[in-house]
Amino acid sequence: MNDEKMVILGGVPLSGEVKISGAKNSAVAILVASILVNGKCVIENVPRVSDIYDLIGIIKSLGCEAGFVGNDVVEVDCSGIKSHRAVGEAVRKIRASSYFMGALLGRMKKASVDLPGGCDFGVRPIDLHLKGFKALGAESDIEYGVVNIKADKLVGDTVYMDVVSVGATIDVMLAAVLADGMTVIDSAAKEPHVVDVANFLNSMGANIRGAGTDVIKIRGVKELHGGTFSVIPDQIEAGTFMIAAAATGGDVIVSNIIPKHMESLSAKLEEMGVGLEEDDEAIRVYVKRPELRRCNVKTQPYPGFPTDLQPQMLVLLTKAKGTSIMTENVWDNRLKYVSELNRMGAAITVEGSDVAVVEGGTKLTGAPVCAKDLRAGAAMVIAGLMADGVTEIYNLKYIDRGYEDLEKKLRALGAQITRRKVNPMPDYLKAANK
Ligand code: UD1
Repeated sequence: MNDEKMVILGGVPLSGEVKISGAKNSAVAILVASILVNGKCVIENVPRVSDIYDLIGIIKSLGCEAGFVGNDVVEVDCSGIKSHRAVGEAVRKIRASSYFMGALLGRMKKASVDLPGGCDFGVRPIDLHLKGFKALGAESDIEYGVVNIKADKLVGDTVYMDVVSVGATIDVMLAAVLADGMTVIDSAAKEPHVVDVANFLNSMGANIRGAGTDVIKIRGVKELHGGTFSVIPDQIEAGTFMIAAAATGGDVIVSNIIPKHMESLSAKLEEMGVGLEEDDEAIRVYVKRPELRRCNVKTQPYPGFPTDLQPQMLVLLTKAKGTSIMTENVWDNRLKYVSELNRMGAAITVEGSDVAVVEGGTKLTGAPVCAKDLRAGAAMVIAGLMADGVTEIYNLKYIDRGYEDLEKKLRALGAQITRRKVNPMPDYLKAANK
């Protein structure tokens, strides 16, 4: 929420076990994918985060039934879908609303969707989504901020992705599931949630092969039926806790995860001298030596180092003596939060808009800071946990979009963290937020 702040008294090494929730980026796509299903979908392991509540509201506005029926179980029934128009504030706020384009086009052969928003990492285009729909026979235009797409008939074809895009890969998959014939997505994204969405659709009767590789083949089927599906664990939440454990010099078992999804992070943590013990569904992260080794990190599409762990990792690099270099290769402007870390005593220089040079070994001290976006917000939390003294984090609406029970989970690991009302927000932070 925006009228609340997080208050952290830093310096406590985290210890204990934390259970990771279902993957937010997978759950958002699967909820929207349910639009293609003529029947009831029971989706388990859904995190209670604000993006999910927003999507449930949008799905209901289309004339479908949707809502939580248990702690982490959502039911969606789009048998009676009435509208092809997904518009409004909630649609504009979140990036996952781009999936309404593919899902509504696939189900109703037409879609009108407000241009999707999401965190501000510079340009967030949808050209590849539209290119994919065009290959299947759809026409599109953008008028008054709304994308209108329609097709008399969708017919499978080959779509080559010029840039590896999670969103475009999933969106074209959604449009192709009920199309005639075979669609081939070449140079597809391989992220775990792309595979999860394909598994969900297949369990409802779709015919998708190759998800998790560069080439995905979708043979269109006539109809999808209802069923039950469980979302994979959240790779990014898991990574955030692994980094927080290392950053505080702690000893934490991060459980209910798929360790394979964590390989790129695990490799970097080991390079820095962090201790790791891997189990079937958990990783123990502990600090073997007080001083961490410096390292360089480059974000890449999966299986490379995830851009969504870039800000959290940058905070950890401030702890390692020497110069580390972080290169952001996915987004063109995802280092805007660095000024907040420097306010806490970090020595990070941004070169261009995609390279951060970290002079590590500096001591972080508590300060009032802003969550500039979802993952940068998580990075501020880690910085606060590491810092001497009290850190206050404002603009929590971003963090709440993607982390379930963050403070509760951290408190259970020993962190001194609370949430308080703040009214009004201090002026200098209002200015920083503009
Ligand atoms: C998803 C994630 C986001 C993550 C990102 C990369 C969700 C809801 N969000 O975002 O947290 O940071 O993957 O792992 O799952 N691009 C184009 N044209 C397009 C689409 C994308 O050029 O039509 C470019 C983008 O500018 C970017 C790159 O492709 O440089 C990757 O973007 P993409 O994978 O599409 O990210 P999202 O799906 O939006």
